Amino acid sequence: MNNKSSNPAPAKNPRFKRPEASPARRRFIWLTLGWAASLFAVIACGFASVRSLIPNVLFEPSRRFKADHPEDYPDETFTFIEEVRLFIVRKGNSYRAVSALCPHLGCTVNLTAGEYPFLCPCHGSHFQENGDVVSGPSPRGLAWHFVSLSKDGRLVIDMDREVNHDKYLIV
Ligand code: FES
Repeated sequence: MNNKSSNPAPAKNPRFKRPEASPARRRFIWLTLGWAASLFAVIACGFASVRSLIPNVLFEPSRRFKADHPEDYPDETFTFIEEVRLFIVRKGNSYRAVSALCPHLGCTVNLTAGEYPFLCPCHGSHFQENGDVVSGPSPRGLAWHFVSLSKDGRLVIDMDREVNHDKYLIV
């Protein structure tokens, strides 16, 4: 049996000479690689520059919502809306939206039967009927939110808009 192949491996063949890359060809390859790397860097910088113009903003849904009709809230009442932690306070024909969020550390204030209607269960801050702080660690009073009337006659509360304690809706 003949073990020798009719076509021997080129490396073992003394007559076979591996072609050397010419210096011009090597230079061309290095130049091409250099240009490709430069082009990549320019494109990456361009992309980063354009991307920096787009702000990283998280768009949240509006916190404005429709409540019931004004007449649905009995006079001299505080109606708690749990989902948004808010009291709708009716006094005669005036309506205000008082946040139930304690400004100290964010607990939900409770209604009490005492002299001051709002009490924070966490650290004992008391708030007057208009939300002003009376005692406790809370640094300020309860926030009021903007109340308006929709076209279909319902109260609209804008939780994104705080108002002074002298701004309320009169219907
Ligand atoms: S969270 Fe209300 S008093 Fe501390």
